Amino acid sequence: MKISPSLLAADFSRLGEEIARIEAAGADMLHLDVMDGAFVPNISFGPCVISAIRPGSKLFFDVHLMIERPERYIKDYIKAGADGITIHYESTEHPREILEAIRAAGLKAGLSISPDTPAEAIEHLLPFADMILVMTVYPGFGGQKLIPSALEKAKKIRDMLRARGLDTDVQADGGIGLGNLSDVLAAGVNVIVAGTAVFGAENPAAVIAQMRSME
Ligand code: DX5
Ligand code: ZN
Repeated sequence: MKISPSLLAADFSRLGEEIARIEAAGADMLHLDVMDGAFVPNISFGPCVISAIRPGSKLFFDVHLMIERPERYIKDYIKAGADGITIHYESTEHPREILEAIRAAGLKAGLSISPDTPAEAIEHLLPFADMILVMTVYPGFGGQKLIPSALEKAKKIRDMLRARGLDTDVQADGGIGLGNLSDVLAAGVNVIVAGTAVFGAENPAAVIAQMRSME
């Protein structure tokens, strides 16, 4: 299991300290939620913030782009220091080309699928992604409740990958905490995003340790 705490739930007035705290707590990645106010009804941060925090952390920067036509900005996120970039299937007409461009730059390419999109829609794209991100909430806000049907979809995607002999990462994002982690893992998910559950905790290290003990 890899744990990718979402910076969206951090104290934005002290980003450097928050990231250092999560890194010391044993996180594997840092999940960076980019929102444009168009693909989702919320605006978060962009490449300036990511390049500002990059020198202060050795964590894998797991950038989740919730933006329309992400092809316009891939270069900016590569330059800002992303290690992996995830785009939404629903946000572009050219998902395959973008995934290929991300890989060609030496980064991990992720493909995300929103709750209303069926697993079958992305079947033809599976070979072009290093990670499939199954949204377990409607993208846009932290602190929502996990949608159970999304876990059935994660399971279906894991099965589709296995049937093709692909050992691709499957990430789940939204509403995940200690109370439902075992269901998420049982669905074949191996990369866990958690915002509120980790950054909101008084002792993030204890939460991360407890998460690992459930594997
Ligand atoms: C939602 C974001 C998530 C969210 C997770 O659009 O993609 O990463 O911040 O936060 P929690 O864990 O609080 O649901
Ligand atoms: Zn996210």
